[in-house]
Amino acid sequence: MLDMERVGHAFLGRTVLSRVELTVERAEVVALVGPSGSGKSTLVHIAAGLIEPAEGRVTRNWRRQAMVFQEPRLLPWATALDNIAYPLRIAGQSRRAARAAAEDAAARVALDPADLGKYPVELSGGMRQRTAIARALVAAPDFIHFDEPFTALDVALRRRMQDLVIAAAATGDFAALFVTHDLAEAARIAHRVAVLDASGRGILGARRVPGTPGARTEAEIFALVQGWLTADPLFRRIHDIDERRAS
Ligand SMILES: Nc1ncnc2c1ncn2[C@@H]1O[C@H](COP(=O)(O)OP(=O)(O)O)[C@@H](O)[C@H]1O
Ligand SMILES: [Mg+2]
Repeated sequence: MLDMERVGHAFLGRTVLSRVELTVERAEVVALVGPSGSGKSTLVHIAAGLIEPAEGRVTRNWRRQAMVFQEPRLLPWATALDNIAYPLRIAGQSRRAARAAAEDAAARVALDPADLGKYPVELSGGMRQRTAIARALVAAPDFIHFDEPFTALDVALRRRMQDLVIAAAATGDFAALFVTHDLAEAARIAHRVAVLDASGRGILGARRVPGTPGARTEAEIFALVQGWLTADPLFRRIHDIDERRAS
């Protein structure tokens, strides 16, 4: 679905990515991890075609893509239902057809129909992020970019949202590139985990995650992450922080 070859990029003359090789297969969920400031968001923007890379080649074989960001980015003046329906409305669907599809998408992320008439300001953080995921699902994308979508949520809520993504992805309808700096989240959600180097050496390596997303127990996920952090050199610098970064 996605093939990035020798991709590199620089901002204002400073290299943030180089020699990146990354593929995502049909119905595959690939988690992308790397230290803060290593260029994960930049890579997602390049994959999505929002940034033209300075070097390399990107081949995209999907029909339709969608994105989910850390902030839900909802339209404040539209209800949850109309936010979810929005991509279909701008694609020219009738209000009635778009709303029917939005109700289906809302059900997939377990949004309560009673909340669909509310405005973003009236929704909890979790409901807002569910709305954003439903909006991503509504147009039946076959590729979804997730950029640290659950980082702002508390632990219990994050787990529920991960389960929603796992269930949605289990249909095989879409492939995904899922950026996270939470290794347990990567171990829970993904088929494969790729590690991005912070100093321009590209993707340092990737590990296939044993088992199937959704079927891994908490004990297995815990053991997997401990193994990565203590015994696998690929993950040695994963928690480094680029202090040149403003935030
Ligand atoms: N639009 C931009 N202009 C200049 N520098 C940028 C821009 N976007 C990102 N950067 C810089 O590129 C580096 C990688 O950023 P980013 O892709 O956001 O990393 P990550 O998502 O891994 O934390 C950081 O040093 C960041 O400050
Ligand atoms: Mg980022």
